[in-house]
Amino acid sequence: MVTETQHLVEAQKANELGYKTFRLGGYTFERNAYFTVIHYPGGEYHMPVGEFLRAVQRDIGWNFFYGMVKFDQVFGTFNFYDNGVDMFVGKYNDAWQKAGKAYSEMFPNERISATFKAILEDWVPPDFNPWAAPRETGSPFGRKRGGPHPAIFRKRIVTKTMIKEPRTDSTHPVNEAFKGLQGKDGEMKIKPEFRERFGLLNLYDYLARNDVTWNPEIVSAVEYSLFCPTTEEYILPITHGNDRVEWFLLLNGQISMEIRDRDTGVLRAYLHMKPGDCCAMPADISHNLWAPERSMLLVWENGNPELPELIRLGKTPTTPLQEFGLS
Ligand code: PHB
Ligand code: FE
Repeated sequence: MVTETQHLVEAQKANELGYKTFRLGGYTFERNAYFTVIHYPGGEYHMPVGEFLRAVQRDIGWNFFYGMVKFDQVFGTFNFYDNGVDMFVGKYNDAWQKAGKAYSEMFPNERISATFKAILEDWVPPDFNPWAAPRETGSPFGRKRGGPHPAIFRKRIVTKTMIKEPRTDSTHPVNEAFKGLQGKDGEMKIKPEFRERFGLLNLYDYLARNDVTWNPEIVSAVEYSLFCPTTEEYILPITHGNDRVEWFLLLNGQISMEIRDRDTGVLRAYLHMKPGDCCAMPADISHNLWAPERSMLLVWENGNPELPELIRLGKTPTTPLQEFGLS
């Protein structure tokens, strides 16, 4: 597929397994049957290719998200918004820092986006959906056999008001794991002249029909308060190091969370969330999540467009209590 950002991509010809190699500044990305090999000026770093592709898919789907997206404890990106996206190896890892092995390089958003999209297009097999839970999709491994899976082009749902579009059996069948879960609609009586301005959504029914995992999508926005529910299963493909306070409310299922110091990756805590548990997270940690069964999680984000500048100036609160002026 030819896109208008293709001139930003430096691709080299395919290797013996059929996969192209990509250059981005001092980095070179190469894939073999099982691994992604990231060459950088300090050496090379290897990641299992399935984990790598699931993480690239999230980074692209979320436009590098809020703050830091670690693909594992070593490699990742840090979003500095208008100032670009930093790509790092070991920069936020205690051992790599101490060994003096950390490396990073900043790129304009469009350049790193174009390269990651080109990697997905070339490396994702036709039967491997990076958005799906492992039980729902095929293998990322082996030599090139066509592709990419069409799900890589899926656009993130963003609504400005509560979503009204119904999800039906034909467009969004209920996920196998949620068969039998009963969502009950409330009742709404609307004056005809206001019909366009109201909608009724049963969030359980809506999420039971979700066709992706680990993908908070905005279903309601009240000024900058964004409700981003998501369905989870297996492991969050990235570790998120937020640059602002963030809240989770577990709606059903179970989620275990690993919490680390954001800037060193040193472990701080484990949590096991049960339905109804609410978790307020400070802006100086990173978190990774595990869901042993398909679960529904409400992620509550602060989308205030002034935050990037305040973060740059170090003027944003670190803890949830500070955010509400309670400490
Ligand atoms: C998060 O980093 O806060 C996050 C990301 C994806 C999810 C859930 C939480 O599905
Ligand atoms: Fe997060």
